Amino acid sequence: MADAPTPGVAEVVLGRPKNPFPEAACRFDAVEEPVTIIIFGVTGDLAGRMLMPALAALYEGGNLSENFAVVGASRTDLNDDSFRERMRQSIETHGSLPPGQWEKLAPRLTYRQVHYDDPASFAMLAEYLDGMCEASGLGGNRVFYLAVPPTAYEDIAVNLAKAGLAEETKGYSRLVIEKPFGHDLATARVLEQALHTRFSEHQIFRIDHYLAKETVQNILMLRFANAIFEPVWNRRYVDYVSIMAAESIGVEHRASYYDHFGVLRDMFQNHMMQLLSLCAIEPPSLFEAELVRDEKTKVFRALRPFNEHDLRENLVLGQYASGVAGGERAPAYLDEEGVPGDSSTPTFAAMKVYVDNWRWQGVPFYMVSGKRLAAKRTEIAVQFKPVPYSMFREIFGDHIKANRLTLRIQPDEQVSLTFQAKAPGPMCLRSVTMNFNYYQGYEGPSLSAYAKVLLDCMLGDQTLFWRQDGVELCWKFLAPMLGETDPDRLFLYKAGSWGPQEAGKFLKVHGLAAS
Ligand code: BG6
Repeated sequence: MADAPTPGVAEVVLGRPKNPFPEAACRFDAVEEPVTIIIFGVTGDLAGRMLMPALAALYEGGNLSENFAVVGASRTDLNDDSFRERMRQSIETHGSLPPGQWEKLAPRLTYRQVHYDDPASFAMLAEYLDGMCEASGLGGNRVFYLAVPPTAYEDIAVNLAKAGLAEETKGYSRLVIEKPFGHDLATARVLEQALHTRFSEHQIFRIDHYLAKETVQNILMLRFANAIFEPVWNRRYVDYVSIMAAESIGVEHRASYYDHFGVLRDMFQNHMMQLLSLCAIEPPSLFEAELVRDEKTKVFRALRPFNEHDLRENLVLGQYASGVAGGERAPAYLDEEGVPGDSSTPTFAAMKVYVDNWRWQGVPFYMVSGKRLAAKRTEIAVQFKPVPYSMFREIFGDHIKANRLTLRIQPDEQVSLTFQAKAPGPMCLRSVTMNFNYYQGYEGPSLSAYAKVLLDCMLGDQTLFWRQDGVELCWKFLAPMLGETDPDRLFLYKAGSWGPQEAGKFLKVHGLAAS
């Protein structure tokens, strides 16, 4: 490792050698300051599948300083060698390890056994970090990533603080947590108070990996770096907006978490609300964390609260029954391992939501998300109104199909615009689609969502992270729906279909039919 530069705030560097676009309007983000990343729960799924491959990719891509270290921490009894071997396998399986890279990466990885509820364990960790950082010139910048169940957040935050690790005297100390941020509004506030008594808001990074997806980041660029969309992006021209996050997978091995949360808490309180806010926000005056998050907060505040009528008419909850998914028999949710046989947890939700402000008054936002649907598909469609008057009515009739702008988030990332054109030959009007494939004509590097959030955290950029006011407003909005536990209003759908019959009218706007 290199000599220690002065600890301090990491910087964004322009035009580093690895920047594939030195001449273009690009910013290549790289961490210049030394940093130690401490991952709690490092033996778990998230660390193995996402975090370690993301760190390896950042290192390989030149986004990390030469002077960094990763300290794995968990309750498991491992030594540095056995830890390294686990991590090597994880990176190989879920990421990539070009020849020679592991040899450079391995010495930066060490392991400490830590008991999350034991202050003595954290005192030992602090001592270890101080010693290691001093010996290796790593300075005092630290990121504590809590890849542990949310029930352990408070213990870890308290014990980090007791061990002096929340202090920022020798460098920054940042705490990264993953959703779910609480189970409802009340528990979100309890968690917040617990974290805030030890860490300040600027130290807390609340991850929503959807925000770091390339195509989600692109929503703001598309809207606000082009002059042609914004003038029509409002109630005058937009008929409705549809937002869908369909998954083909079932609950997999996460029943104990999922059954307690269900689709409203697992997908809507976070990812779906963020997608909605990016479609609906006003242009911030600068692409800067607080300004962007201020505008999102305004959207969350403008969500029209659900009343009794909305719960009946504008919300459909479902749960998957057995069926065929991906050509194979798929069990019902109730038969999945670890799911109680009488569970009424929804695995599907469709809702119609309004944003009460001048721009969006009267424009419905249709949102759908569910597990075990016919395919994995995340997309946003802006459906425009038809032309106000057809001069072609004598040939084609009064009705001319309206334009639709589709932002495909994943898979097959693309933006497409459907419009009407004359067919060659006869006097026919046909719908045609102009497609932009997100990776078309691009050969440079790209960052996975987890690489992006890790990088931004080290750079201290909060733009892609949740702020507490947003978290609370979204819990408040969902509260009436979370109280909807009538088993007669939980509709079954076949695994491998697009959802229950009762959601037909919501699915139609996404161009889909129910099971
Ligand atoms: C997670 C949810 O936040 O997002 C999972 O907990 C869900 O239930 C996942 O499967 C979906 O993420 P992605 O990136 O695969 O769309």
